[in-house]
Amino acid sequence: MLSDFKFPSEEMLASFVGKDILSAEQFSQAELEAVLGVAGFYEQALAEGRRLWDMDGQVMAALFFEPSTRTRLSFETAMHRLGGRVITLAESPENRISSTSKGETVHDTIKIVNNYADVIVIRSPQTGDAQIAAAAASHPVINAGDGFGQHPSQALLDMYTIVKEKGSPEGLAVALIGDLKYGRTVHSLVDFLKYYKCRLILASPDELKMPESIVHKLQAGGVQVDFCRSIDEAVAEADIVYMTRVQKERFADLAEYEAVKDMYLMTEETLQHLKPGAVIMHALPRVNEIALAVDDYAGAAYFRQAGNGLFVRMALLAMTAGRVKGAFKPEWAE
Ligand code: NCD
Repeated sequence: MLSDFKFPSEEMLASFVGKDILSAEQFSQAELEAVLGVAGFYEQALAEGRRLWDMDGQVMAALFFEPSTRTRLSFETAMHRLGGRVITLAESPENRISSTSKGETVHDTIKIVNNYADVIVIRSPQTGDAQIAAAAASHPVINAGDGFGQHPSQALLDMYTIVKEKGSPEGLAVALIGDLKYGRTVHSLVDFLKYYKCRLILASPDELKMPESIVHKLQAGGVQVDFCRSIDEAVAEADIVYMTRVQKERFADLAEYEAVKDMYLMTEETLQHLKPGAVIMHALPRVNEIALAVDDYAGAAYFRQAGNGLFVRMALLAMTAGRVKGAFKPEWAE
């Protein structure tokens, strides 16, 4: 429910101005909840049919050096919904359109884009590129996924979804299933779940386990982490079941990918093992992790989850720009 979110104080809003958003780890619990509060504010504003004006005169650069549907389009829509403008580089290995294909570095690319845009959103196949971008830019940089590193805006929208679907995340059991090695969404999400004493149930092929450094960090922080192999066992005690895609593009050897790609598939049969009221999430795209029949289950939240990305990204853009007003577009500007 939107009333579960709390709009932040002026001091908290001021602390976001000019900030880069690079990893989930950089957020305190209060900062995380501030973003969710502003996201709730924007969701409400859009539901009321308000035409917003907060990012008027601002330009967002969307630099996507990897394929994307939800992340790029929701960032772009977020800027449009806030009355701002967008410039985009959308690349894939098959469609290299920027000067990076001529050998230009991320550093130099950002130095250029920084002249044109007020905020830079970057996705890259290279872990650590968002940091490089942030060091090169004077404007805020938002990491929209860097290799198998971090994907903080996804984790924020995941938390927003959990609150909307379940109320407080406090003490929930969360099963993370699939590719926990290369999946950057779960690497970020666990850093938020730790604030709510969530129990983590990790299920993955041996080859795709959550990196030990992350597991150790969680355990040292007092998080209960349990491991299992079977999906039925993993979902049995979970309030949230978070499925992930095996990240084919991160495998050096495709034979290794083939060997593990279909290990975890949620089917109608798996639903029988769920706790009543359990919520199923997935950052998407799904490949072969969730059968179509599961979409009809009331707790299948993955499409709602993707929709929530819009509100969370509106919040990030307006907060880092110091422009959270919920301002109407005035009549005279029509
Ligand atoms: C994820 C990503 O790109 O890391 N997708 C997304 O942003 N919604 C997950 C994935 O690609 O599997």
